[in-house]
Amino acid sequence: MATRHFLTLLDLSKDELKSVIERAIELKALRAQGIATEPFRDKVLGMIFEKSSTRTRVSFEAGMAQMGGSALFLSPRDTQLGRGEPIEDSARVISRMVDMVMIRTFGHNVLERFADYSRVPVINALSDSYHPCQLLADIQTFVEHRGSPEGKVVAWVGDGNNMCNSYINAARQCDFELRIACPEGYEPDESLLAAAGNRVKIVRKPVDAVRGADWVATDVWASMGQETEQQIRIKAFEGFLVDHELMSHANSDAIFMHCLPAHRGEEVSGELLEDEKISVVWDEAENRLHAQKALMEFLQENSK
Ligand code: CP
Ligand code: NVA
Repeated sequence: MATRHFLTLLDLSKDELKSVIERAIELKALRAQGIATEPFRDKVLGMIFEKSSTRTRVSFEAGMAQMGGSALFLSPRDTQLGRGEPIEDSARVISRMVDMVMIRTFGHNVLERFADYSRVPVINALSDSYHPCQLLADIQTFVEHRGSPEGKVVAWVGDGNNMCNSYINAARQCDFELRIACPEGYEPDESLLAAAGNRVKIVRKPVDAVRGADWVATDVWASMGQETEQQIRIKAFEGFLVDHELMSHANSDAIFMHCLPAHRGEEVSGELLEDEKISVVWDEAENRLHAQKALMEFLQENSK
């Protein structure tokens, strides 16, 4: 058995993805009943964060503790990572001491290089290109609220960023139609679009993406690392606010997701975000915990 990594959603087969989601739902139920599952006794997760985080850090750290293991928070500020030690050397050293590593970084190639030299599974906890752990939680949330996403219509409104790229991969893995509304110049990765074929389409007006959709998602307009572009982006994304008016064009039982943190009044209205008949963002955030526990269990069971 080789070491399995999770750098994008495509690192799992469709069946594996389905079973991770089912297991996440099961782990959530077990936790609600107070039944502990501890497959990680004596195991350690290394967590490398080169960008800020609330949900990702808390969910991985709490998840590992709940499963009998522990987690180490490693920041470039106080490790040799921030002083230029090569990724390849860091990977060989860290992966001889811990049992799994999650990395939040800028360039996706950092994850790929780390994984190439790692003895243990590596998880992408967000890169500039992808955020696959968030998609595990989003898919779990849709399944819990509306059942299988297969054949559904999903609208992405906003930036063609790491989240959008991961939605494209999710459309392939879960067989849903994805309509992306983004301003010119803010499209997602071209090669991902080409690989996804005609199940993914780009439109220019948010309403054209949302019409008849079952699931509407958005994210901030300026991602981490793009702080200096904030003002330019606010202009470029004029008209891309997701609010009740826009949601009124979706199917009557459509749900709204946002990976959070949200900027109320920019990409989403405060009223929509707080409307729990439509917005499932708190369940979505909680599901990071359950989905990643299922993912870590899968990677451990399926790696040598
Ligand atoms: N959604 C998400 O990844 O949140 P954090 O940046 O707080 O981890
Ligand atoms: N696109 C956002 C997601 C944050 C969870 C970012 O990369 O900052």
